[in-house]
Amino acid sequence: MRMSFADESRPADPAPWWRHAVIYQIYPRSFADASGDGIGDLPGITSRLDDLAELGIDAVWLSPFYRSPQNDAGYDVSDYRDVDPLFGTLADADDLIAGAHARGIRVIVDLVPNHSSDRHAWFQAALAAGPGSRERARYLFRDGRGENGELPPNNWESVFGGAAWTRVAEADGTPGQWYLHLFDRSQPDFDWSNEEVREEFRGVLRFWLDRGVDGFRVDVAHGLVKKAGLPDYTPPADAGSMGGGLDDVPYWGQPGVHEIYRDWHLLVAGYAGDRALCAEAWLPTIEQTALWVRPDEMQQAFNFEYLETEWDAAQLRAVVTESLARYSAVGAPSTWVLSNHDVVRHATRLALAEPIPQGWGIGPRTPGRPDPVVGLRRARAASALMLGLPGGAYLYQGEELGLPEAIDIPDEARQDPTWFRTNHERYGRDGCRVPLPWTSDAPGYGFSPTGASWLPQPPEWRELARDAQRGEPDSTLTLYTTLLAERRHHALGTGTLEWIEGLGDDVVAFRNGNVTVVANLGTEPVPLPAGGLLVASEPGVAGVLAPDTTAWLLPA
Ligand code: NOJ
Repeated sequence: MRMSFADESRPADPAPWWRHAVIYQIYPRSFADASGDGIGDLPGITSRLDDLAELGIDAVWLSPFYRSPQNDAGYDVSDYRDVDPLFGTLADADDLIAGAHARGIRVIVDLVPNHSSDRHAWFQAALAAGPGSRERARYLFRDGRGENGELPPNNWESVFGGAAWTRVAEADGTPGQWYLHLFDRSQPDFDWSNEEVREEFRGVLRFWLDRGVDGFRVDVAHGLVKKAGLPDYTPPADAGSMGGGLDDVPYWGQPGVHEIYRDWHLLVAGYAGDRALCAEAWLPTIEQTALWVRPDEMQQAFNFEYLETEWDAAQLRAVVTESLARYSAVGAPSTWVLSNHDVVRHATRLALAEPIPQGWGIGPRTPGRPDPVVGLRRARAASALMLGLPGGAYLYQGEELGLPEAIDIPDEARQDPTWFRTNHERYGRDGCRVPLPWTSDAPGYGFSPTGASWLPQPPEWRELARDAQRGEPDSTLTLYTTLLAERRHHALGTGTLEWIEGLGDDVVAFRNGNVTVVANLGTEPVPLPAGGLLVASEPGVAGVLAPDTTAWLLPA
């Protein structure tokens, strides 16, 4: 067994790290490419750990790097206990974990338990074994409706568009049963009522815990259990891809999922070092999401209600108040987040005229192109507001550079299954997944030694490259570095929030310990309360706060 983070000598932490940590999401395909094939890899990440330590984050979460045909960028896993050769080897994973730990950075890995790849040995065995077999019982195979089973077993739609069922050919070549896939057809859903599936995943958890990871981000944590009988369901037309409406959705948020997480809670608690589970659960209310972080379940859940809140002071105050109340009612911290690999980057999203349903994405033909200057200004203000809140926070790679969504990816370069499964009606998520710019004057902006990049990088990213921003007083990178240092210094993550009223309807203002955070979301400047300026999201703040700006103040 390898060393765990807790085995290393570190100053005592007043609260478990996950209650206040800033966790940086690495999307391995797009972070740093050491091999030169245009796809990021684990050695690339290891080579950049010093940059992450300098930024001042507490942990990284790695999107999947397991063996996979990459039909959904690695969220289609064919072997949960190995690294895909695209990304490196198990030894590279060990080096990365050790390198992160040596720098005081914890490592969370992604766990994808709702579905496997259709290339997974279990699914291949299920196809070969035929109806009624033990092998098919690990997935959700059903006979079709209609006279000859020619219709899918129910009307469910895939999150990526089209039907959620695919019919297989049986061994003799005749059309046979159907299998459920809430996502791409290459991602068959497991049947979590099957004890064999449960035991298999306990083994997967142990495999990575034994290698020293500090926790798991659990993919589609609201989807594992399906309602008995698999009844028909039609989602509301404007539902985001991964969440349903307020009604009882037969595949999201079914009560039986909680039993699984109670089981995992005990398993993870058996390891030293405060290891943690974080739910990716797109649920329609904070009240429901809080069920995933009850004391005997997961430690964290992404606060997607917060992510989806518009740039509006009243709405932000309401979502923060409700989050703090609902999560603390179950003894959990809130975990704030503004961007990830499934949503339009917040430096673009916050300037959209109309909200876009999650997962649909934007592209050159989307009406109302957002103003990049407004977007970046709001993004910097929003991040400064978020990092002042008590609780944990997730950052998505590139937001510390102020990267916008890449809108103009040519049609022929797009790769998200959403784009193909909706017949190009929805752009999908490629625009937030473009490889990072590290060095302005290098080919591919230093992402890869050869200049190759699996998605094209916009030319204007040259100026946003990390080396161009490093040490520049007004850059977004310097802003994030300063915010993270001050957040740590003033222990804001473990603090408490006290609202400050009376600064105007368009202002969000609160005290967190010694620090006063004031954000102006309106269109007019507002006077700042007395106090010493600690950090501001824009240069030149003195006495008044311009629109779309956040300031942190110390007592006068
Ligand atoms: C959520 C992941 O974040 C997303 O990228 C993926 O496509 C789906 N789950 C399916 O695994």
